[in-house]
Amino acid sequence: MVSKLVVIIILVAAIVNSITCRQVTISNVIPRRDTDGNIMDAHDGNVFLHEGLYYYYGASYGLCKEPPGPSGCTVWHTGGCGFQLNHNVSLYTSTDLSEWKFRGYVFQMSSMKTQGIMFGPRVLPNPKTKKWVMWFNFLPATGTGVSQSQCAVAISDGPEGPFQLVTEKVTTLAWENTGDLNLFQDDNGDAYIIYNSHIDGSIYKPDHLMSVEKLSNDYLSSLGMKFNSGFFGQTFVEGGAMFKHNGTYSAVFGQCCCYCAEGASTTVYTSLSPLGPFETRNNLGNEGHAQLYNVLQFKTTTTDGYGYLWQGNKWQSSPDGDKGHDFTYWSPLSFDWDGNVKYMNYTANFTIDVIPDFH
Ligand SMILES: *[C@@H]1O[C@H](CO)[C@@H](O)[C@H](O)[C@H]1NC(C)=O
Ligand SMILES: *[C@@H]1O[C@H](CO)[C@@H](O)[C@H](O)[C@H]1NC(C)=O
Ligand SMILES: *[C@@H]1O[C@H](CO)[C@@H](O)[C@H](O)[C@H]1NC(C)=O
Ligand SMILES: *[C@@H]1O[C@H](CO)[C@@H](O)[C@H](O)[C@H]1NC(C)=O
Repeated sequence: MVSKLVVIIILVAAIVNSITCRQVTISNVIPRRDTDGNIMDAHDGNVFLHEGLYYYYGASYGLCKEPPGPSGCTVWHTGGCGFQLNHNVSLYTSTDLSEWKFRGYVFQMSSMKTQGIMFGPRVLPNPKTKKWVMWFNFLPATGTGVSQSQCAVAISDGPEGPFQLVTEKVTTLAWENTGDLNLFQDDNGDAYIIYNSHIDGSIYKPDHLMSVEKLSNDYLSSLGMKFNSGFFGQTFVEGGAMFKHNGTYSAVFGQCCCYCAEGASTTVYTSLSPLGPFETRNNLGNEGHAQLYNVLQFKTTTTDGYGYLWQGNKWQSSPDGDKGHDFTYWSPLSFDWDGNVKYMNYTANFTIDVIPDFH
């Protein structure tokens, strides 16, 4: 009688588990294709779980042919594919992080009055205003180069856009000449921007410094110096991302590596408050030869319910030379007993449990 009950319980548990949990294997060496069979063209973006769907926003570089070589970094847009005026923001959605459906371009640079270069789009839904807000790096074509680098903001009523430009230059940030940015949303709906800035306005001096700053309630601007962490961590850094794990805020970033093939090793900084003070923790290495663009939080079977994927760009890795076909490299984060993120060994592929998010 007891053993029958045990068998039934095990069976029910197995069925519930197979319904609620999906085991997926994600490859870093087979091109990531969407459900139409096209290689996903989403670089330096972010991924957000909302009402059961993962929304993946990324810069689309298209079929521009990149000259071969270890770097795709040209100082201005006449050169390689990274600094062109026709970039779009693509959106892909997924329920399990393995099958991605292309939902179209949610923003196109051709829609802007001022021509320029866009990279690093990040999107968050604002629970207070019910709007979807996009921040991106913007280099006006009329500018004098990277010293003109600024943050622009666009807004949409829903996740699929089209996003409408609110401002092409956020003027509230504590620091000017901003580089890579990322957004982070806390459990209470407050949002933060992590960004680097080259404070002397030149890219030739190693002064790209990282800080975190709180956004306004509507996410359309920031709260400036009083709500800025101050610079922390190493100098000459970019590619920042933030996540929260077990009550601790982590900022992750690495050395500058503009559209480079070799990638950058990243370091983790932690704090009990989103604005710091941040303490230097582990270095995660650069075994994947990729540059971090995001840390994706997903629902899984761990005790706190969440897992994290480190996502980086492998620039100059496209087999056919099309910039949009450059690989991205994802790696699950694992934590040791005291909460430190472990060194990331190279992984050609990995298998994770993804729990669907029912609403
Ligand atoms: C962006 O979208 C427009 C309109 O669909 C297209 O003409 C352009 O080639 C796209 N840009 C890239 C880089 O693919
Ligand atoms: C979470 O944080 C608490 C308090 O800081 C700590 O005691 C616990 O070991 C942590 N758990 C994990 C899984 O890291
Ligand atoms: C990385 O590899 C080393 C050596 O095999 C191993 O001890 C360590 O646990 C691995 N790290 C992770 C995160 O799996
Ligand atoms: C994952 O990688 C291993 C080692 O590189 C390889 O043997 C295996 O076939 C790969 N599995 C999948 C599903 O791609």
